[in-house]
Amino acid sequence: MVFYSQVDDFEAWRSALAAEDIELRQTGDIADKASVRHALVWKPPHGFFADFANLALVINLGAGVDALVGRDDLPDVPITRLSDPKMARMMAGYVLFAVTRHARNIPAFERAQRQRRWHYIHPRDPETIRVGILGLGELGLAAAIECARQGYQVQGWSNTLKDVDGIRTSAGLEALPEIFSGSDILVCMLPQTPLTQNLLNAERLALLKTGAAFVNVSRGSIVDEAALIAALQSGHIAEATLDVFATEPLPPSSPLWAMDNVLITPHLASIALPASAARQIGENVRRLRTGQPLLSRVDPGRGY
Ligand code: GLV
Repeated sequence: MVFYSQVDDFEAWRSALAAEDIELRQTGDIADKASVRHALVWKPPHGFFADFANLALVINLGAGVDALVGRDDLPDVPITRLSDPKMARMMAGYVLFAVTRHARNIPAFERAQRQRRWHYIHPRDPETIRVGILGLGELGLAAAIECARQGYQVQGWSNTLKDVDGIRTSAGLEALPEIFSGSDILVCMLPQTPLTQNLLNAERLALLKTGAAFVNVSRGSIVDEAALIAALQSGHIAEATLDVFATEPLPPSSPLWAMDNVLITPHLASIALPASAARQIGENVRRLRTGQPLLSRVDPGRGY
């Protein structure tokens, strides 16, 4: 199996996959490229796959496959993405942190602290705070359940209707305005597909209640970033926690950097954890060998 990622730890993946009887190598260490059957990749350079004529499986080293499915240099083989309960748990932890940050007025306390000001704001009951979660895939679902467990009024929205215990759900474009206008904190967890590109445009962001908070942990391209910046500048959106951006790394010229109502993290809300994700990779390699259906197979037409 060939590995490519500029952000993941090759040694950690190598030893995790060795436990699954998979030999992981980096391109430079592979003499016989024709022997490579599987690729574990995160954003490999264009043309990467051409060297490996006998690939039978491409594994996206992450949950979001948008950077992979849009390419014109993919081999005609199945693509899977990682689906790992620990990745979902890590994401749910970040979302709960972001929701708590807004629900508990942490940005106001940070501003007050810089002014040496004791600024008491009486905490609100989580049950009075409405959290909208856009996207109820594995990660969105885990985050919705985590927020509901903390008592927030969670409403989940997805492309196709999901039935989730304890969470109000809705689906389809016609249900979107209600989620926007009915959320105190809106969390974007949608996959990037042709359907979701720029879905959170100026018109939809305008539907948010004045003073709402916004969290994005999926992809920057789903939001009209200029409209988001304008809404944060006017105060229509009071605060945001942003892990993803239209251009990454976020350029130094972005006005977002200087906004004290915005927390920026560099696209790390959740990552694939080798020890647990390797089991799914091992399972898929075995399934491929024995002709069984693959887990978390990507439908390139649908985009996820
Ligand atoms: C990270 O953004 C991922 O898609 O795994």
